[in-house]
Amino acid sequence: MKILVIGTGYVGTTTGLLFCEMGHKVTGLDLDEKKIKSLKSGKLHFYEPGLEDLLAKHISQNHISFTRNAKKAIKENDVIFICVGTPQDKNGDADLSYVKSVAESIGTYMNEYKVIVTKSTVPVGTSGLVSKWIREKQEDKIKFDVVSNPEFLREGSALHDALNPDRIIIGTTGKKAMKIMKSLYEPFACPTLETLPEAAEMIKYASNSFLAMKISYINELAKLCDELEINVNDVSKGIGMDQRIGPAFLQAGMGYGGSCFPKDVSALIYLAKKSGNPLTILESVVKVNEEQTSYFLKKIKHALGGKLKNRKIAILGLAFKANTDDTRESASLYLIEKLMAEQAEVTVHDPVVKWGTTYQRESIEETVKGADAVCICTDWEDYKKINWTNLKSLMNQPYIFDGRNILSKTEMEKIGFHYMGVANG
Ligand code: UDX
Repeated sequence: MKILVIGTGYVGTTTGLLFCEMGHKVTGLDLDEKKIKSLKSGKLHFYEPGLEDLLAKHISQNHISFTRNAKKAIKENDVIFICVGTPQDKNGDADLSYVKSVAESIGTYMNEYKVIVTKSTVPVGTSGLVSKWIREKQEDKIKFDVVSNPEFLREGSALHDALNPDRIIIGTTGKKAMKIMKSLYEPFACPTLETLPEAAEMIKYASNSFLAMKISYINELAKLCDELEINVNDVSKGIGMDQRIGPAFLQAGMGYGGSCFPKDVSALIYLAKKSGNPLTILESVVKVNEEQTSYFLKKIKHALGGKLKNRKIAILGLAFKANTDDTRESASLYLIEKLMAEQAEVTVHDPVVKWGTTYQRESIEETVKGADAVCICTDWEDYKKINWTNLKSLMNQPYIFDGRNILSKTEMEKIGFHYMGVANG
């Protein structure tokens, strides 16, 4: 099948390469000249482990090409995946302007039957809007079907997640489109759920919100555990052993960030409010998440004697999680902002993110030199492998705040650190 992927970010590029692996011919379309130029030369414009090798392979085998020519790309392909961004608007809802503009181009240029698939996370009812936007631009009333086929991949493990999904959701009212979509996903062993577009759209929001809820739950519980001197990691392990709960997304930390959870939870809250059925549980999820960095700051401040002015704080990690260069809604940035507001002197390190400020240092050693405390904000593997004995000798005071619970309190105390994690002993 000839597949067009519109939008070449994490989701679009990964989806395109996934279908190349399945033996299809793929075109990636984006308006951004820089992105297209980079992809054409085999270079990703974002950091994602494993993806660049696959890109090089499929470019060299002529399975994937990239273009800015929407007219040609739309005419020449059978199945069109919309993978453009749906950022948060000022009301907390998803901004659909990129989706609308893509739908309008499809309506303007389509020459024969097409399957149009929304992969971007879009509010309930968007499939209907996409149909309407396409129809409004069509001169001849050419048939098409719209499908909602949400993507569940995570940044940092995009390729693995896309190749090994837990389930495939296909939401459409078009029989022909359902058949095409099922044949497209035939090589996958996981179950497929056939449903209506609105249910598919809701499944994506409900999944992300549920996972965010698990994180906020364990984070709030961690505060109580901290007070009661209970190790929250043991609690996560214990409750996660119940198959009805499951062990995933119960890692207490500085709160969830990234390009999905904050925006998707907010869009579902917006939808619920608008339809007169507020989701109070999700409103609390957001509140707990927003308070998490303040709670952490309070603990740092208290441990350092109640004042942070002129204290040298070394931040390890800027990315919202390991294995990505994405800092969108990163808890690290929120903590840095709060530390700076307290007039602390901040130095930062990240193995991948290039922040472009004078606060960033090249090496971990330079970052912690003369520091009164180190804060681990991202769960990078590099930070788990640090020789802390050596690092301690560079610091002014041996305080360590582990916002991701990646180290052992006992080990760190043996080295001579004052260690504080998120209720981990
Ligand atoms: C998420 C969803 O997992 C994915 O299915 C969807 O397609 C996109 O949104 P992503 O945002 O890339 O993926 O990363 P994820 O691994 O889910 O982590 C999100 C945030 O939650 C990160 O800040 C992470 O550090 C945090 N997190 C995750 C925790 O604090 N504790 C956990 O136990 C898990």
